[in-house]
Amino acid sequence: MQRSLSSFPFAPAVKMRLIHAGFHATADLCDFRPLQLSKEAGISQDEAEEVLQAVRSQPNQGRAAENKLTALELLEREQTLGTIVTFCSELDCVLGGGVPVGKTSEICGVPGVGKTQLCIQLAVDVQIPLCFGGLGGQVVYIDTEGSFLVQRVVDMAKSAVEHCSQLAEDTEQREALKEFTVETILSNLFLFRCHDYVELLAEIYLLPNFLAQHPEVRLVVIDSIASPFRHGFEDLSYRTRLLSGLAQRLIQMATLQSVAVVLTNQMTTKVASGQSKLVPAFGESWGHAATQRIILHWEGQQRLASLYKSPTYREATVRYQITGQGFRDVSPAYHHEASADPSAFSSGNAHKRPRVEEA
Ligand SMILES: Nc1ncnc2c1ncn2[C@@H]1O[C@H](COP(=O)(O)OP(=O)(O)OP(=O)(O)O)[C@@H](O)[C@H]1O
Ligand SMILES: [Mg+2]
Repeated sequence: MQRSLSSFPFAPAVKMRLIHAGFHATADLCDFRPLQLSKEAGISQDEAEEVLQAVRSQPNQGRAAENKLTALELLEREQTLGTIVTFCSELDCVLGGGVPVGKTSEICGVPGVGKTQLCIQLAVDVQIPLCFGGLGGQVVYIDTEGSFLVQRVVDMAKSAVEHCSQLAEDTEQREALKEFTVETILSNLFLFRCHDYVELLAEIYLLPNFLAQHPEVRLVVIDSIASPFRHGFEDLSYRTRLLSGLAQRLIQMATLQSVAVVLTNQMTTKVASGQSKLVPAFGESWGHAATQRIILHWEGQQRLASLYKSPTYREATVRYQITGQGFRDVSPAYHHEASADPSAFSSGNAHKRPRVEEA
């Protein structure tokens, strides 16, 4: 069975070097020879031999039995895991109820379009008590840009609490509201600040242990994945390898630890055949990293959310707005012909411009 390298009794320095080089699980090492691993990970040949020996001595039995699951069991599992509402009912509808737990979702968009606002909204909404149809979960929020604003959590939390208070009908719901306060919402949000890709990889590497100690966590947000990986990589294939290792880890974490993983990504300008268009950063290989991709974009003054890649639901575009209370539907009075053409994503926020892809 695939095992995380973090669970092996290697020296901490060896583990860190393996992670920095993009090796996270036993499967990442199966084709390596000691000399090659020593060069790739920057560890001595003896250390590389020791690592490979330990990895190869892993028993493989039991794999088939553990992987066996009927489609019915899978369906039941997915239904039990549930979804996190966005508070924009049109978007929830497109997503089949909200952002799915047990899967990874990528939110892309130009600066200022509302990626962080949506992440904060989800961080509040995941905590809505079970008796109100929520998940009653906690959240891990990894901020790589320094853009997390606690005041916005307070604003959105107040609004969510008020919303539930208005809905409360029975004793169970009134009891639940005693625990669903702005203070508890803030104390159920674990905030991690990562300044560069090394800190981010280390955090992701340590996260499974944290999640094991905090089984109530249902959402892991990484805002953003782009910032730490955008600059400082002369060797782009090294960056691609790190990103694909990271993506694998996140998928594994979402599945094994039953959390929704939400990452934000920026848009870059891609020039092809003399035409430029906005595309999510990190190219096509990264496009497979998340189970689904939501692109937030502008059309004139209107904010739009497009479900662009999903294994389950059709592509669609809906309107949303950001208010003082948070991420919301646009009032029905607003009439708009939404465009679902991804090549039409506009950088319409005049104050901010997308970054240009390095690759
Ligand atoms: N209290 C508020 N009331 C209304 N709108 C707000 C409020 N706070 C933020 N906004 C809106 O949210 C926008 C910022 O959104 P957000 O920070 O989520 O952008 P982003 O997509 O994460 O951008 P970046 O790529 O720069 O991180 C602001 O431009 C503003 O329009
Ligand atoms: Mg942001």
